[in-house]
Amino acid sequence: MRIDILTLFPNMFDGIFQESILKRAIDLGKVEIHLVNFRDFTEDPHHKVDDTPFGGGAGMVLMCQPIYDCVESLRGEDSVVVLLTPDGVPYQQKLASTLSQVKHLILICGHYEGFDERIREICDMEISIGDYVLTGGEIPAMVLVDSITRLLPGVILEESYQNDSFQNQLLDYPTYTKPRNFRGREVPEVLVSGDHKKIEEWRREESLRKTRERRPDLIQEEK
Ligand SMILES: C[S@@+](CC[C@H](N)C(=O)[O-])C[C@H]1O[C@@H](n2cnc3c(N)ncnc32)[C@H](O)[C@@H]1O
Repeated sequence: MRIDILTLFPNMFDGIFQESILKRAIDLGKVEIHLVNFRDFTEDPHHKVDDTPFGGGAGMVLMCQPIYDCVESLRGEDSVVVLLTPDGVPYQQKLASTLSQVKHLILICGHYEGFDERIREICDMEISIGDYVLTGGEIPAMVLVDSITRLLPGVILEESYQNDSFQNQLLDYPTYTKPRNFRGREVPEVLVSGDHKKIEEWRREESLRKTRERRPDLIQEEK
């Protein structure tokens, strides 16, 4: 998979691709990530990419031309262009799975007050990572890249994410590691019984119990 991230602040991504699973995915060639500064595409002699809003009001608005030209230079037959915006479709695990099938993702990070409304017209999808407003689309882009990359074949074991929270409309079951007794707190007996069928049943029950308690809305969606 190839991911192009269109941003005015490429340095914000320092570090995130050089650690842990994302680094390994890049080193293994499972994902190729390019940071593209759309300021490089502006035709403005002063390298401007934003201007004041028509009708007045606070803040600066990203202009169409640099982003249109940048997207046009990158877009191919297999590309999906995603605009990161608080009024987009709420981002969920299901959407991460869908996007992990895409060959080429182009992520557009807004900034300042936002972007010229006509930028929406060149996008295939608009995504929000939650009902709050961040200073820019860079953190949302990191959220998408991270959650999508771990689902790419060969990045982590399929088994590792199959039972993850939200993967099957349920929250993940509780897990424990050594020691069996930590300051009087015991690991559930079934997990050290060696009975794999019983362990499976216990995990399914615990997943259901936790989901009913914490996120009953997920179980309602399952019906
Ligand atoms: C300060 S915000 C602009 C907010 C805009 N005035 C509004 O109320 O919808 C600047 C940029 O950050 C990004 N952004 C902020 N919050 C976001 C969220 N929850 N999900 C996705 N992108 C977000 C978007 O790219 C947005 O254009």
